[in-house]
Amino acid sequence: MLLSFEGIDGCGKSTQIKLLQNYLKNTGYKSYLFREPGGTEVSEKIRSLLLHESDELDPVSEMLLFSAARSQLIAEKVIPLIKKGEIVILDRFYDSTTAYQGYGRKSVPLDKIQLLNSIASHGIQPDITFYLKIDPLIAQKRTESVEKDRMEKSGLEFFRDVAGGFDELSKSEKRFKTLDATLSVEEIHQKITSILAPHL
Ligand code: TYD
Repeated sequence: MLLSFEGIDGCGKSTQIKLLQNYLKNTGYKSYLFREPGGTEVSEKIRSLLLHESDELDPVSEMLLFSAARSQLIAEKVIPLIKKGEIVILDRFYDSTTAYQGYGRKSVPLDKIQLLNSIASHGIQPDITFYLKIDPLIAQKRTESVEKDRMEKSGLEFFRDVAGGFDELSKSEKRFKTLDATLSVEEIHQKITSILAPHL
């Protein structure tokens, strides 16, 4: 089973993913977590190009690098685990490319991003996508004190477009489960486990 978590920076994904992993462990399920971009040696190298280098990246190069990191992770780690029937959790997946590079950067038309996403993911799709929805201004306040990476320095207007992109996806994709990220950590966790439980 493939689960993904999405939302803009500061939505609280990492906290919820940790809680979910603990829940799965306590109920007797092993799970594997990967973050995007990252999760393999090559993908982590691409991650540092994307997030930490100060060089300007052309928006199309940015989109292709996120996709290259994804393709490597999916081929090397995710597909073999899915084939064995394991539970894989992805901290971001191709919906981030649609929202950040498509709606945010507007690098190329959305239909082209969709095609690229299906190529980079080797045709696999998440069974459930947990979308932690939050107002970009609230998210910005939450991340104010943390040092920002290259993407996070993109500004409020950019994050409004990205959030709009996730909202559009949540309307068109049945696998999207939208959660109000301003609820308490415990309330959000409860909702996630009650959505997931019937699928286990
Ligand atoms: P990360 O530090 O993992 O952020 P977060 O903890 O919020 O997930 O950095 C990932 C950054 O890269 C984040 O700003 C979102 C961005 N991103 C894209 O722009 N496109 C993508 O396809 C992916 C996977 C991430």
